[in-house]
Amino acid sequence: MKKQYRILAVGDVVGAEATDGVCRALGKLKQEWNIDLTIVNGENAAPGNGLDRSSAQRLLSAGADVLTSGNHIWQKREMEDYIGENPCILRPANYPDSAPGRGYVIHDSFGVRVLVMNLLGCVYMEPIASPFETAERILREQEGAYDLSVLDFHAEATAEKLALAFFLDGRVNVVFGTHTHVQTADARVLPGGTGYITDLGMCGPVDSVIGVKKECVIRKFRTRMPVRFETASGPLSLCGAIFTYDADARRVISAEPVSRSLR
Ligand SMILES: [Fe+2]
Ligand SMILES: [Fe+2]
Repeated sequence: MKKQYRILAVGDVVGAEATDGVCRALGKLKQEWNIDLTIVNGENAAPGNGLDRSSAQRLLSAGADVLTSGNHIWQKREMEDYIGENPCILRPANYPDSAPGRGYVIHDSFGVRVLVMNLLGCVYMEPIASPFETAERILREQEGAYDLSVLDFHAEATAEKLALAFFLDGRVNVVFGTHTHVQTADARVLPGGTGYITDLGMCGPVDSVIGVKKECVIRKFRTRMPVRFETASGPLSLCGAIFTYDADARRVISAEPVSRSLR
């Protein structure tokens, strides 16, 4: 019986080329990093944005155990039906109950029941139910049904991410942020034993503004006129973090950021 488990969290996959790159690299990286459970944020994995059936299936076959998402989950209409068919694809749990799909799943990994949750931030984003209240509700409702818990908090504001992580410190084993597409340099273990990073960063084109062709974004900022955003191409990198959970100590003992060139 293993004593330590390694959880890999991979940041927002942006565009079709990055999806290809992650699918090609994931198996090998999991071996190299000795990974037991892999969570990938797939909210931008489809061509053009959002998540579609084929990109989701490819990421899952390539080695992702659970796909989390965020504010772009409904961009492709087909996800409205498909998300209900696959419990390993999550939409944020604080969407209204009438939205399709689920915001958490209990995944049996390495013989351990892992509760994986996905929540959306409220600051500088569309109005939605409180991530604080929703997290507490899920933990209360699922008490006893899981051994280990992980949260992808898809949010814009660093303060909101830190505040939620401290609120859940010691109650959720791993809290990582996604959505900004820029990796933060603050991976650490919080005092209560929660592994944390404010943002994993993205898997996408390096020569871009958070995945989008830089010319489009510069034009948008300079002119304030409508601009069609296109996904950039060129060299890709994968960003994420690895959290090591110690079963004896019942806490995360290390949180390390990772990044790797995909070609
Ligand atoms: Fe994203
Ligand atoms: Fe997002």
